[in-house]
Amino acid sequence: MPEPTPGAPRQVPVPSGDLLDRGFTIWFTGLSGAGKSTLSTALGAELRARGRRVEILDGDVVRTNLSKGLGFSREDRDTNVRRIAFVCHLLSRNGVVAISAAISPYAAARREARELIGDFVEVYVRCPLPELVRRDVKGLYAKALRGEIAHFTGVSDPYEEPEDPDIVVDSSAETVDVSVQRILGHLKARGYVMPGAGIGGRPGGDDRTR
Ligand code: ADX
Repeated sequence: MPEPTPGAPRQVPVPSGDLLDRGFTIWFTGLSGAGKSTLSTALGAELRARGRRVEILDGDVVRTNLSKGLGFSREDRDTNVRRIAFVCHLLSRNGVVAISAAISPYAAARREARELIGDFVEVYVRCPLPELVRRDVKGLYAKALRGEIAHFTGVSDPYEEPEDPDIVVDSSAETVDVSVQRILGHLKARGYVMPGAGIGGRPGGDDRTR
């Protein structure tokens, strides 16, 4: 760096793409089994391959430790989501990419998370209920439909669809790769990810956002 000329205005170097090291939160929301965890893992791998530090907060995992003992009343879900949002906030402000994969069914709690975190990308993982019932990876939909699980999201408990998510992916209509590529496209457009290579070095990427 050359010495500053005395009396000249101080030059503050602004690195191009100064958002590229900045932490942010990807907030997946959607019904159980829609693909939030799968997408988190795949997206996390892509971001790590780009040199980012990534932490995934998965609802099922968080509920075995940080939120152990919480149930599925609105109050408990809101507490769970608040805890996840708080950790995402701490991580994001320290340069980490935090990825939340919890149903987070209530719009108000998601709004609260967005307000707390700031650098926040809401991804709605949409999947029609009949397809979730058909997949039923954990066997929970069958139980919920038989009335064996009370307050099961999408069956006997509400899910408030995001009205203005940053991205919508539809796991019944597109592959994981395509969804991840679309999310990366959005991140590139927002300046969080270097433009250029797509997944696995494939050029381009779909930069459609909302
Ligand atoms: S959230 O509503 O608080 O965001 P979270 O994502 O942590 O939910 O947990 C959802 C997971 O808990 C589901 O994927 C499923 O495996 C399990 N689960 C057990 N009971 C319920 C229920 N009543 N409603 C939704 N998910 C349930």
